[in-house]
Amino acid sequence: MKPLIVANWKMNPSSLAEARKLFNEIRKTNAVICPPFVYISAFKYIQLGAQDCCWKEEGAYTGAISPQMLKGLGVKYVIIGHSERRIHFKETDGMINKKLKAALNSVLIPILCIGEKKDENPETVISRQLKEDLDGIAEKDLKKIIVAYEPVWAIGTGDFCEKDEAKKARNFIRKKIGNKVLYGGSVNSKIAKDYIDVGYDGLLVGGASLNAEEFIKIVKNAQT
Ligand code: PGA
Repeated sequence: MKPLIVANWKMNPSSLAEARKLFNEIRKTNAVICPPFVYISAFKYIQLGAQDCCWKEEGAYTGAISPQMLKGLGVKYVIIGHSERRIHFKETDGMINKKLKAALNSVLIPILCIGEKKDENPETVISRQLKEDLDGIAEKDLKKIIVAYEPVWAIGTGDFCEKDEAKKARNFIRKKIGNKVLYGGSVNSKIAKDYIDVGYDGLLVGGASLNAEEFIKIVKNAQT
């Protein structure tokens, strides 16, 4: 099976024209592309993802977007529990757990992000987040969730996780659950393949997914 590569554009680019241009340049990779909510309806694409969703289908939740709404726009994947949402929007593991359940209910494939901060122990954080985020999810649904191991200190810093450390985390997660696991955190085309070699099933790419040439190289290198 080819590694799954996911482009997380975060809150970029700042215009729809630029988003269209980037989208058209990278769509041929078949990677999952997660644009900001407001651009999603501009794209028809089988591998479309969103960066978040609410835990409710509809109602008085100002500013929120439901899994049902995303499904209706042809979205297939949804990132849940990204560290930027945990940090800047104060998302708790309880909220993430409800979001996962709502996404699964709407037949979206969740990409659950987990990972430790600089001074935290990776195994302690991975264990706690998996336990709390996946609490009460039925076995048949659990299998559908893709996990993304993203050490917080490696996100957007250029300070990527060394191969051996990443391998240790991968093996630790494997002992806990048999799901697909992606690596994310300052991935570039030079190191992309390293993570696949140590057992990751794909990559979650932030900053480098905004540079079409570099992103295409990442996909190519990871998949060969
Ligand atoms: P980065 O982001 O590749 O810019 O480090 C990864 C992510 O946040 O998913």
